[in-house]
Amino acid sequence: MEDKIRVLLTEEEVNKRINEVAAQINRDYEGKQVHLICILKGGVFFTCELAKRLTVPVSLDFMSVSSYGADTKSSGVVCIIKDLDEPLTGKHVLIVEDIIDSGRTLAYLIEVLDKRGPADIHLCTLLDKPERRVKKQVKVEYTCFTIPDEFVVGYGLDYAQKYRNLPYIGVVEPGAGE
Ligand code: IMP
Ligand code: MG
Repeated sequence: MEDKIRVLLTEEEVNKRINEVAAQINRDYEGKQVHLICILKGGVFFTCELAKRLTVPVSLDFMSVSSYGADTKSSGVVCIIKDLDEPLTGKHVLIVEDIIDSGRTLAYLIEVLDKRGPADIHLCTLLDKPERRVKKQVKVEYTCFTIPDEFVVGYGLDYAQKYRNLPYIGVVEPGAGE
């Protein structure tokens, strides 16, 4: 049975907003090199689109963490599946995520990465679901879209590893389709 997917944000809307956020980052990081940390797998599409629009010097690293299984509910446990390749000492770190939901993933990452001596750490997320926040202390500097409490897919976000490749953001209604 196929899942039904309702479009929440079109490709055009997403791209337009990424342009705006990239422009803001270019202003804020003027004269600095930004070290983007892409949070795999969900952050990969957004990281690429964002990085292409940055005019300040960029370096890139990747990290894979997990807090979800094949379900739509968080397990509450965050673990590192793949660590960074490079040290963070003295770098202007910008963590790039697909979505902040409970905030557990980003709270954990900030705690872990802050100990590695970066010059500073900021957060950039494509989507924010503030209604679901548990870790309320997490401060996100760059948010493309604030969305309601619905399970979304596309632009890197998955449902049981599917739909990451959709060029738009949609709400998945499991098993509701044909
Ligand atoms: P948090 O730790 O609860 O903030 O969850 C962050 C992670 O949960 C994200 O990086 C996503 O991988 C996943 N996640 C949260 N909400 C959604 C959603 O609506 N669709 C797909 N993945 C989600
Ligand atoms: Mg993720």
